[in-house]
Amino acid sequence: MVGFEYAKKSDNASNKNNVLSDAAVINLDHGDPTVFEEYWGKMGDRCTVEIKGWDLMSYFSDANNVCWFMEPGLEDAIRGLHAAVGNAATDERYIVVGTGSTQLCQAAVHALSSIRGSHPVSVLAAAPYYSTYVEETTYLRSEMYKWEGDARSFDKEGPYIELVTSPNNPDGTIREAVVNKPDGKVIYDFAYYWPHYTPITYCPDHDIMLFTFSKISGHAGSRIGWALVKDKEVAKKMVEYIMVNSIGVGKESQMRAAKILNVLTETCRSETESFFEYGREKMKTRWEKLREVVKQSDHIFTLPKYPEAFCNFSGKLMETYPAFAWVGCKEENDLGSLLMKQKVLTRAGNRCGSDKKHVRVSMLCRDDVFSLFLHRLASLATDSLL
Ligand SMILES: Cc1ncc(COP(=O)(O)O)c(C=O)c1O
Repeated sequence: MVGFEYAKKSDNASNKNNVLSDAAVINLDHGDPTVFEEYWGKMGDRCTVEIKGWDLMSYFSDANNVCWFMEPGLEDAIRGLHAAVGNAATDERYIVVGTGSTQLCQAAVHALSSIRGSHPVSVLAAAPYYSTYVEETTYLRSEMYKWEGDARSFDKEGPYIELVTSPNNPDGTIREAVVNKPDGKVIYDFAYYWPHYTPITYCPDHDIMLFTFSKISGHAGSRIGWALVKDKEVAKKMVEYIMVNSIGVGKESQMRAAKILNVLTETCRSETESFFEYGREKMKTRWEKLREVVKQSDHIFTLPKYPEAFCNFSGKLMETYPAFAWVGCKEENDLGSLLMKQKVLTRAGNRCGSDKKHVRVSMLCRDDVFSLFLHRLASLATDSLL
């Protein structure tokens, strides 16, 4: 996949032990969430997990649970965190753990299409959408479902599944389903519905909601995600998919995720070390700096504006500070290619169902990479390359 080829090319730029040189290529194509490393460093040993040689050897975690490979400690930690934040209803819901929400999204599409009568079931998302949905739904060439692209132009009859990402990746907007026909099912991807990115304005209770450890705390390497699922049959089908795909989910990762999610919940009650407070300040500062560069460029570039809303979690009015910047340019330029000449790799808007005038830029990189990005974006404007 293109994204991973890019990652190799710029390994030198994203390795924290290397000092960034002018020649370094910086990779802001994928959303590798290293931005929060400093916070976890300050937590010292509070998140350290010790695993003995004889621990966690069985495939099974809890044979009585629909999701029999989920560690009970992780389930408790997930329910505890949602209760503390108020960003999803967990009562009377099955939790399915996955190797990242990437696996769960595929499991959910498989589950929902396998219980429908006619195939292939259409899969759609309103553009601009998270480009990985395209790969997830086309790579295996399943006969059960078919990627149909932009939900706004979907005019077919028959069963469909709409993927709704809110706040949206790539453009940070707050989203609802757009098709709303009786034959449809909706999968809500709430990867970024956390208080450091956006105000928590309501507690969603949809039938299928996906969350990922990667984008809450930044621990993407643990590869843990979870789905909150209302219907038992759907949950069972998702579990079946994960059984066939990977016979469960690594327990070491689950233990680490449980530990860190519990610490995160504890910090919600702290005045001085709240992770979400720290994360919000970090994201806010980055967005302010980026908006300043755009302003200085005489608005050659464009960025979406986000309305303020009252956050039930923090008790304050706040803006959305998305994990990705959806940067546009006014002229009919291929912004991705122009930035590539400046040694900045981004995701081209056309991969997200939009146009080449837009790119998706990760806001989750390390500080030195972010500063270099701002510098190169500013140079693009002052060198009149646009
Ligand atoms: C909207 C969205 N969903 C899912 C994922 C994947 O998360 P995970 O690392 O849990 O597979 C991402 C990662 O960028 C994402 O942006």
